[in-house]
Amino acid sequence: TGLTALDYGYVNTSSTQSWITYINGDEGILRYRGYPIEELAARSTFLEVAFLLIYGELPTKEQYEAFEQRVTRHTLLHEDIKLLFEALPFTAHPMSVLSSAVAALATYYEDSLDVHDPESVEINTIRLLAKIPVIAAYAHKKSIGQAFLYPDNSLSFVDNFLKLNFGNYAEPYEVNPVLSRALDRLLILHADHEQNASTSTVRLVGSTEANIYASISAGISALYGPLHGGANEAVLTMLADIRDSGDGVARFVERVKNKEDGVRLMGFGHRVYKSYDPRAKIVKQSADEVLGALGVHDPLLEIALELEQTALNDEYFQSRRLYPNVDFYTGIIYKAMGFPTRMFTPLFAIGRLPGWIAQWREQNIDPRSKLGRPQQLYRGSGERHYPDGREFI
Ligand code: CMC
Repeated sequence: TGLTALDYGYVNTSSTQSWITYINGDEGILRYRGYPIEELAARSTFLEVAFLLIYGELPTKEQYEAFEQRVTRHTLLHEDIKLLFEALPFTAHPMSVLSSAVAALATYYEDSLDVHDPESVEINTIRLLAKIPVIAAYAHKKSIGQAFLYPDNSLSFVDNFLKLNFGNYAEPYEVNPVLSRALDRLLILHADHEQNASTSTVRLVGSTEANIYASISAGISALYGPLHGGANEAVLTMLADIRDSGDGVARFVERVKNKEDGVRLMGFGHRVYKSYDPRAKIVKQSADEVLGALGVHDPLLEIALELEQTALNDEYFQSRRLYPNVDFYTGIIYKAMGFPTRMFTPLFAIGRLPGWIAQWREQNIDPRSKLGRPQQLYRGSGERHYPDGREFI
């Protein structure tokens, strides 16, 4: 019909209305359900933010306790699903493990196929929040050849996750409260970011009325890429490369500006933020605090600080309005906590989970929702005909 507007990367097209997250990219504002990210990061918990995003309001004390208890009660994985880990190599990237295992959860919870049954949506929401951290921790354990621990439901959400990652059967494990609070805060910062690539993927898959596990597994796959959630891993690799090359920060920045080998300054730039990412501000402050409290001195932090200053003072980055994004400093904190680099993006996925769920549910109950089906402008050949006499097949 020729009605289609061309919009590579959906730079100018809203795919939906939403009531969940507000971003003002020019002013660096981020709010979940109206609450500024700075206030939530300072005063809330990840589980409370999950409740807020999914149900729209802050919980009462009773609602909070009931929600926490439900999420805690569903942390066990079916014993058979652990066999999935045996089929994968120990070198497997945990993001691949995570997306596979989450897709596989649908085979255990077929009630999820009834996407319009509110009870089914509710129970599968709880299962996802409870089990994804356990799957991520098992992917970590598998990669280091250690036994999977059972969840310890006497612990808080984040403490349980830390124990599943860093505890073992040989010795007692005590959660460091500094670490626990820092991780909780980082998860809050990642909890939603409106229609980013992974969330749009969750919505697109969800728009076909595919179950919530299939939709979130697809979101995890979208998050894996280095231009999206995979950037936190890529930043650490970049910082280590700068350190190991001996070339120094200035030379690296020159390479970025000259677009040598397509190299980018990872953790910089954002489709929406054209000023300092408000999450990055909080993460940077956290990095200082956490490394200080843990007594960790990481030369990569110094490289990151120098890199940030060099870029912020450079005309290339200024004219393109490129600032550090959330991924720039997170990896340094995760590393100080003891997570291997490959676990950084799964940590992002755990954080983003409430947002994906909230967005899937918002679309699912909105009568205006439609099957997502972008159009294209066809640029290929006009009609032509299969050659007469073509006989070789
Ligand atoms: N390093 C060097 N140049 C950059 C960068 C960067 N990180 N980001 C953008 N540019 C340049 C780009 O080359 C282009 O310049 P020119 O006009 O000369 O070709 C200009 O800035 C505009 O860039 P764009 O690619 O059109 O912008 P976009 O909105 O499509 O890209 C982005 C957004 C996040 C993909 C990009 O900034 C990027 O690749 N950043 C590095 C990866 C990264 O940190 N991703 C995490 C994003 S935040 C959290 C998340 O979503 O997971």
